[in-house]
Formats: sequence, C-alpha cells, structure tokens
Amino acid sequence: MKLRHIISAKQFDKNTLSNLFSIVDKIKAKKYPKNALRGKIMATLFYEPSTRTRLSFESAMLRLGGSVVATDNAAEFSSAIKGETLEDTIRVVNSFCDVVVLRHFVSGASEIAASYSKVPVINAGDGSHEHPTQALLDLYTIFSKFKNPDFTVAMVGDLATYRSVHSLSYLLTLYPRVKFIFVSPDKLRIFPELRERLKKSGNEFTETDKLVDGLREADVIYQTRIQKERLTKSDYKKYFGVYVIDKNSLKLMKKNAVIMHALPRINEITKDVDKDPRAIYFEEAQNGLYVRMALLLYLFDPVRD
Ligand code: CP
Repeated sequence: MKLRHIISAKQFDKNTLSNLFSIVDKIKAKKYPKNALRGKIMATLFYEPSTRTRLSFESAMLRLGGSVVATDNAAEFSSAIKGETLEDTIRVVNSFCDVVVLRHFVSGASEIAASYSKVPVINAGDGSHEHPTQALLDLYTIFSKFKNPDFTVAMVGDLATYRSVHSLSYLLTLYPRVKFIFVSPDKLRIFPELRERLKKSGNEFTETDKLVDGLREADVIYQTRIQKERLTKSDYKKYFGVYVIDKNSLKLMKKNAVIMHALPRINEITKDVDKDPRAIYFEEAQNGLYVRMALLLYLFDPVRD
C-alpha cells in the first residue's frame, strides 16, 4: 500500500503491517542499507514535549544517513508564538525538507498539515486523537512476544484521551481473534466510535472499572498515564493514582503476560515492577527506533508499489 503521509492507524492494513515489520526485523538484524536516506532532510516540529518520539525519529533519520532540522518547543520557539498559523508554517517548512514529523496539541492537526504539505507528514501525536507510530511500535512489540494474534489485551486507565490507545486499538481490530478488556473509570471510557469499530470487526470486548479483571485475564496489559495536560484539574486529581501496577499486581497476572506502557510513566507502574521479566516497556521504547527507521525506509522506498 502506498503511504504518502502517516496520519492515522486507520491507513494500515495487515499486509502493510507485515511488510513494515519484516523491514523492522532486518533493521534489528543490522541488515539494512546504511545510507539509504543520504541527502534527505527531516524537519521535526514538536508543539508538545517529547522524549521518545522525537529523539527516536531523529536518531532513525541520522542512522539511515539523512539529516535533521528541528525547532525546540515549536509552540514557543517557532514563529507560532508570533501568531503564524500551522498552515503557513507547513507551507514554508516543507520547502526546507523531505519529510515533516509533527506533534501538535490539536486533534486533527496532522491532517491539516498534510493538506498543505508537498512532502510527507508523519503524525507524532495530535492532541487526544491518535499516535499512529507509537501504535506501530506497540504492535511490533506485541507480535515479538505473541506470534498468533489470539491474545487478550487489557487497556488500562485513561482510554478517552490517551491517543496511543486509540491508534493501537484500531490496529488490533485488524485481527478479529484479539480480545479486549477496557479498564477505566466511567468518565474515561473508550469513545463510541471505537465501540462501533469493535462491533464491526467482531472482536470480543468487555468494559470494567476493575484493574483486577484485566490483570487476571489479559496476556497484554497496556497501562496508561493519567495525563495532566489533557484532563481538567479536578479530573486529574480524581483519577491520578486510581490504577497502579505494583508488586502485588504481578502475583495476579498470568505467567507469560506482558506489561506495556508508551511512557513516560509517573506513578502508575511502580519501580519495583521494572525487574520482572513481564515488564517490557523499555524494550517497547527501544523498538520505537527500529520501527521508525522502517517507516522512513518504507516512505522513501522508490520501488514500493
Ligand atoms: N510515548 C511517547 O510518545 O513518548 P514521548 O512523549 O516522550 O515522545
């Protein structure tokens, strides 16, 4: 499948994922063209903070022989602070580079940017909407542990505004034997759109407010952070610390289950969990580099159909 921009997980089908993940495997085995992107320039425009997404994208480009131009905190240090619109910024920046990686606080910002850009735009997180490249690395990580897509995934915490939950859930609905347990407070439940999607795809799913249901039943526990930047002050106070995975949680989990988290984490997974072999969130973050390298190779591949 031709992907010009990467805006949403909904652009991916099983075949594209399989092709992409086979490139990731080659990258991990160091069997990739080292200077494949020599002469290409990536612009990273991040209007929200980031550690993993931005640095792994920039590292991916550099490892493939390309270059990076960036503005630290685009909301403050780009001309956005003077009142320039995103549209105008993209119109200008796209003439300086070959790909734009954009993180923005507005849901739908990447789609708007793509409509003004002559070069590919990659959504590195748009508001509470989507984070497709996080979902790709999450899915790759899950498939590295479970070869057959017939596992149960518990999504835990803020399922309303946590953008990687939206993107990853969508990708997982491509595999109808995957079961979901959505664990959240009532106010932070999944959106009706995802519920509809699940009904269409035929995936079994349940919704609960009890973490213990997810811990006992799931093969993949996908923990989320309660996000100060997305919730009202009172909701943040109410839900912060409501679901914590700690040493006692480990006793309830299946032996071969895994704990994932897009990171950063605050208090929702205690540090004493890190040493448990089922805690794979740092491996997940490392896969971000390989998956983003594969995505760049895929985007720029001149012979791809
Ligand atoms: N997972 C993720 O998006 O992390 P950053 O916010 O650090 O990029």
